[in-house]
Amino acid sequence: MKRFAVIGNPVTHSLSPIMFKKIFTDLALDADFCAQLLLSKELEEFTSEMRKGNLDGVSVTAPFKQNVIPFLDRLDEHAESIGAVNCIRRNRTELIGHNTDWTGFIRSLSGLDIRIGKNDFIILGAGGAARAVIYGLTLEKAKSITIINRTVEKAISLKEELSNLFPYQEIHTNFWDRMDDEILKKAVIINTTTVGMDPKDSHALMPKQNILTGQTAVDIVYAPIWTQFRKLHHEISGKTISGMPMLIYQGLASLDLWYGQPISEQIDPIELQQYLEIKNHE
Ligand code: ATR
Repeated sequence: MKRFAVIGNPVTHSLSPIMFKKIFTDLALDADFCAQLLLSKELEEFTSEMRKGNLDGVSVTAPFKQNVIPFLDRLDEHAESIGAVNCIRRNRTELIGHNTDWTGFIRSLSGLDIRIGKNDFIILGAGGAARAVIYGLTLEKAKSITIINRTVEKAISLKEELSNLFPYQEIHTNFWDRMDDEILKKAVIINTTTVGMDPKDSHALMPKQNILTGQTAVDIVYAPIWTQFRKLHHEISGKTISGMPMLIYQGLASLDLWYGQPISEQIDPIELQQYLEIKNHE
């Protein structure tokens, strides 16, 4: 039997165990998946146990996507460029860090009627998830990307780092409270912050007057499905998606890495999403 886990803190909200158990059943794979709550100081021991063979693969969620890296043996080119890992694969005693968030995010946009190369994007947040989203948009040649983060210095240093990596990509930074009207009018807005996950710290992130009719908004948070951010955009602009498709597509890409073949092609992502939405309400 193969064994997998998701690590994070908190981790109880994660739908990964339910999702992967359903996939394993549907594909008749002899495998199990559990959630493991960790502290940062436990990462070293966790990874050395994994190297010994107790787990075959791991999904990594906040806040470990960046600080797990020193404990891995190597990264693939995407994880290396992004600087964040959301998928660990064990090959004998070697732990390899991958990033499937970026491809999961890009595939999730197929649910919206937008052409990446023809659009400007506003990214709220500058953490590990933002890095993956921006990387994906850059590979897909987004027209422009504007990073807005509560801690402005983080947005600026991320912009500088990415501008060095991708000199051809137009990247800007802006401010929470003084968003540039011209950019706002045209942009697809993506929330990559953790705001919305915690019911105690849930707010819409943007003032109502900054949301325009016809604007498209993507929240990468999937629990709850209807965050304050999405509710407000839905009310005004109509076009929004949750982080559920991204969760599914990054999971399917991780599955293929763990098994070394494209077995996820046999899974219907729409059916899986319907299943998870029902489970999420139970
Ligand atoms: P992840 O790996 O999920 O991206 P992270 O790297 O911890 O997690 O990043 C969390 C992001 O959410 C950051 O951009 C953070 O902003 P700061 O850099 O200012 O901390 C953002 N964030 C978290 N709580 C927030 C809040 N209450 N308001 C605005 N942004 C918030």
